[in-house]
Amino acid sequence: MMFTRTDYQAAAAVVRERIRTAPKVGMILGSGLNRLADELTDPISIPYADIPGCPESTVPGHAGRLVIGLLEGVPVAVQKGRTHLYEGYTPAQITFLVRVMAELGAETLIVTNAAGGLNPAFKAGDVMLINDHINFPGMSGMNPLIGSFADTSEPSKFIGMVQTYDVPLRTAARAAAGQAGMELHEGVYVCLSGPNYETPAEVRFLRMIGGDAVGMSTVHEVLVARHAGMRVLGMSGITNASIHSIDHHVEVSHAEVLDAAAVLVPRMSAIVRGVLRSMA
Ligand code: HPA
Repeated sequence: MMFTRTDYQAAAAVVRERIRTAPKVGMILGSGLNRLADELTDPISIPYADIPGCPESTVPGHAGRLVIGLLEGVPVAVQKGRTHLYEGYTPAQITFLVRVMAELGAETLIVTNAAGGLNPAFKAGDVMLINDHINFPGMSGMNPLIGSFADTSEPSKFIGMVQTYDVPLRTAARAAAGQAGMELHEGVYVCLSGPNYETPAEVRFLRMIGGDAVGMSTVHEVLVARHAGMRVLGMSGITNASIHSIDHHVEVSHAEVLDAAAVLVPRMSAIVRGVLRSMA
């Protein structure tokens, strides 16, 4: 499934017709974190099914709505629920709404996910600011920027990845965590396709190559946001410690991930709100 700019513009036009204020910030809420969207004031909630071209989430815990409203006085568009490669969608589909947010005028993307903690210092309920990532699907050709280079009106797709996670936004996130009296870890997010969780050998490997948290999302949306010229802030809510040993008798489960995500909502909300206040 490939899209052209015309598809994004058509979807944005449908959204624009229903809203009063153009969003300045786009947000994507990961597994179990979508309750943050309920904190918007003057919300306008648009089911994904009403947005032409938009794929619908098929995973429990991922409601499919674009909610547009104010948070800390800042106009935001929140993706309440995201789609994933493991649902069988293409990289272009799972990043569709990021393109739409950019068309609507969003200049910043705040992206969150639920992740396993590879770093042994991380425990369930902790928050990690993403300062870099490793994109495994991208290394094997699952990259949303793959496609024709014929449209020369488009920005170059040979994008640099050194300052992918915006430095001032990371500073603002640290300040927000400090104000909320919260610890904020920082590190490297590793993306795998999923949907299975990792083997212990994979966990040891991912730790060895410098990963601090592991999940099944985010990097695709980040790539598209960067290509669209948006600034990016990324955060992982650690829902479980990754299991390093085959002698460990408990498996990671989706239910455990959703339970821990509930604890993470107010914590991630405090950081997001602090960052938005710094932008207002
Ligand atoms: N691995 C991959 N993705 C995840 C995990 C995990 O342990 N926890 C939440 N999302």
